[in-house]
Amino acid sequence: MKFRHTESLPSLAHLDETSSDDDNTTSTPTRSTRHAESSNCLADLTDDDSAPSPCRRAVLPPHTGHKKVLVTGGAGFIGSNVAELLLARGDSVVVVDEMNDYYDVRIKEANLTRLRKLCPGDRLSIYRGDICDEESMLSVFEKERPGWVCHMAARAGVRPSIQDPFVYIHSNIRGTTHLMELSHKFGVKNFVFASSSSVYGGSKSTFFSEEENVDNPVSPYAASKKACELLAYTYHHLYKLNVTGLRFFTVYGPRGRPDMAPFKFIDRVSRGLELQQFGDGSSSRDYTYIGDIVDGILRAIDRPYPYEVFNLGKGNGTSLKEFIRIVEKHVGKKAIIKLMPDQPGDVPYTCADVSKAYELLGYRAKVSFDEGIRKTVDWYMHEYGKSICVEPETQANGMGRAASFAEMKKATPVEV
Ligand SMILES: NC(=O)c1ccc[n+]([C@@H]2O[C@H](COP(=O)([O-])OP(=O)(O)OC[C@H]3O[C@@H](n4cnc5c(N)ncnc54)[C@H](O)[C@@H]3O)[C@@H](O)[C@H]2O)c1
Repeated sequence: MKFRHTESLPSLAHLDETSSDDDNTTSTPTRSTRHAESSNCLADLTDDDSAPSPCRRAVLPPHTGHKKVLVTGGAGFIGSNVAELLLARGDSVVVVDEMNDYYDVRIKEANLTRLRKLCPGDRLSIYRGDICDEESMLSVFEKERPGWVCHMAARAGVRPSIQDPFVYIHSNIRGTTHLMELSHKFGVKNFVFASSSSVYGGSKSTFFSEEENVDNPVSPYAASKKACELLAYTYHHLYKLNVTGLRFFTVYGPRGRPDMAPFKFIDRVSRGLELQQFGDGSSSRDYTYIGDIVDGILRAIDRPYPYEVFNLGKGNGTSLKEFIRIVEKHVGKKAIIKLMPDQPGDVPYTCADVSKAYELLGYRAKVSFDEGIRKTVDWYMHEYGKSICVEPETQANGMGRAASFAEMKKATPVEV
């Protein structure tokens, strides 16, 4: 299949479209009361970045030309979806992924195969390798000269990071630093990277705002993401690298990660297996559909702000009890629930204040949790078992951990 060589897509255009939401995702996000102790209010830094307040920001129009984008972690859940949309709109994509076995590698292989099928031509290059491997990454930058970077590669997962923090320091902190070094040396126009809602730690706020102090991460994973945000600011300050950090709020959807609750719940309820419910079911999370997240990422790539951090979430939470009820409804089976105590490192309540992303990126989540779970169940029932089927309980998330370091391979192009 050949894609048209189109201009880059996302703009503020669809803000007024009606959506299928049934849980307030359509309402226009408004800025919540901002905290005076802002630590991320660094937006209008131009040449003089000594005075980071107040938050007066000029809204950047989207860059609309062709882009060559390096997508790290492009075989993973979010990265492969970003790569797919970039290719679909006519951009060129360079994927780098070490293909570690944090979860079943066949899922990542299938993601790469899918990308290859979508774009058999030379607009897609795929490299296997560790982003920390200096020699290999230098040769990727020298050969490919990506003008834009979408850095999604990381060790994800809160609980495994408590068991094995060092691999998180390696991939997340060292890896991100290495990429920013190369990005400033090679004149990258915009460096967009994945942070996480876990940086909010045990915050008691109702809506997590980017201006909140996030100096209390409660897991090595969260600390690694906060460290990336700090280093990103440093690279902006020292080299004027345009950097945007995106704090994702629990992302789910078709081809989602098997270690995460949405996939696990759908899988276990479908198979009539027992579900572990941690806590009393009142804990609530802001679950974000993959299509909305990818839309937000592309909006951020297209707008090279000097230095920004954005929440990307749905903007409202779903309790664990309600989550299970929605899964039961779409799977058509009752869940068998085993009650478990709260887990260390888990954040009891997450809900994104997405007003800043709305104002500066034109981002607004459009898919309700009910609709997103319906789509995910549909994918699980009709496509998942056909191409690939893994047992999530033998995968990551503290059970059957992956090795600390994936085999370090040279970044040679792979044929898929
Ligand atoms: N999925 C979520 O709900 C969520 C929430 C918050 C933040 N995030 C962040 O978003 C990003 C993407 O998450 P995902 O859910 O797609 O995870 P994922 O595990 O599916 O994808 C990450 C990919 O990065 C690759 N990778 C890891 N370390 C690497 C290294 N050193 N070198 C090269 N490749 C490496 C992995 O092989 C994997 O394919 C991550 O940075 C994650 O921390 C995800």
